[in-house]
Amino acid sequence: MRIAVVGAGYVGLVSGVCFSDFGHEVVCIDSDPDKILQLRQGVVPIYEPGLEDLLARNLASGRLTFTTDMAQAVDEAEAVFIAVGTPTRRGDGHADLSYVMAAAADIGRALTGYAVVVTKSTVPVGTNRKVAAVLREANPQASFDMVSNPEFLREGAAIDDFMRPDRVVIGTETERARKVMAELYRPLSLREFPVVYTGLESAEMIKYASNAFLATKITFINEIAALCERVGADVKAVAKGMGMDGRIGSKFLHAGPGYGGSCFPKDTRALARSGQDHAVPMQIVETVIKVNEEVKRRMFLKIEDLLDGRLRDRTIAVLGLTFKPNTDDMREAPSLTLVPALVGAGAKVRVCDPQGQREGEALLPGVKWCDSAYQAVQGADLVVILTEWNEFRALDLARLAKRMAVPQMADLRNIYDPDEVRAAGFVRYAGVGR
Ligand code: UDX
Repeated sequence: MRIAVVGAGYVGLVSGVCFSDFGHEVVCIDSDPDKILQLRQGVVPIYEPGLEDLLARNLASGRLTFTTDMAQAVDEAEAVFIAVGTPTRRGDGHADLSYVMAAAADIGRALTGYAVVVTKSTVPVGTNRKVAAVLREANPQASFDMVSNPEFLREGAAIDDFMRPDRVVIGTETERARKVMAELYRPLSLREFPVVYTGLESAEMIKYASNAFLATKITFINEIAALCERVGADVKAVAKGMGMDGRIGSKFLHAGPGYGGSCFPKDTRALARSGQDHAVPMQIVETVIKVNEEVKRRMFLKIEDLLDGRLRDRTIAVLGLTFKPNTDDMREAPSLTLVPALVGAGAKVRVCDPQGQREGEALLPGVKWCDSAYQAVQGADLVVILTEWNEFRALDLARLAKRMAVPQMADLRNIYDPDEVRAAGFVRYAGVGR
């Protein structure tokens, strides 16, 4: 099949490359000519494990191409995916749909024959109908069906999530569109990955409800963690015991410094706004948003506490700045709250992240960037583990302790065993919820 993907950002690029790997002919369209030139040469502008190899393979096969010319690419396609960004709109928390609507109008003008137009971007309930209206307005003769096909990719595991999904959600209203979508995803349904067909609004809602639920699950365990600290329980043991109940499940029960990233913060805010707009306040989600901010603030207090309330001129090494490992993404990372607060309190902050420096340098002024954890902790009064990159999971703790002025650790991802840390020479260890 011939597919056009509008928007070669994170979701568009991963989807385009993977569809092409399924054997479809894919053309990815982006308005940024530099990005298109890079992609044609096999250079991936983001950090995503496995993506560069898969891109190279499919470029070489000739099935995957890149262009800035929307008209031709769209006109020849049987399915046109909208995969442009939907950031939070300044001021009101709504999803900013201007890129989606602009893409819809361009697609409308480019269509001459029948195509399915598929929204992959995360859009609030009701948007797909508005997209269809914009398309029709741009081209009253256009022959198309609208499909909502939300994406559940996790950064750092996106290829695997696309190739081995828990489910594929397809919202359509016509049999014709359903057939096109079934054909597109045949390589997955043949391998018995479930494909769920719904209406447009349900598909849109599945995406928001799933992300809000996961954000709630994380926030729930973070709140339990705070109480664990006071009553002498260990949240790791608590989460393990809870997770064994099949109805609860063990995933997304890791207490930490609060969720971040490009999806959970934005999608919870957008769902809360939808609730307000329809006079059905999403009270749980609104509380989750608020509690997550408190969780992030609590990490600062924990550090202040470890340093006996005095941060001025103390040296703090922060390991990991991206919102999670295996990504260079700094969007809404807990580090963006914590590090400026430490710097603001007069601490000397040394930071280290395997991928975060390119984006992080502009976002975190006043810190010293280091190439390794061992360099970062030199002379420090405290080491903070903020993102659980693999290379921070197996540190030589004794070597770390020897380099520090005062060997103390705030392990905000609970990756170390407190006894092991103390045995290596650390005088104090604080995790989250233990
Ligand atoms: C998420 C969803 O998982 C994905 O389905 C959706 O399409 C996009 O949003 P992503 O943002 O890449 O993916 O990251 P994810 O791995 O879900 O983690 C989100 C945040 O929650 C991170 O900051 C992570 O550190 C945090 N988290 C996750 C926890 O604090 N504890 C957990 O148990 C799990």
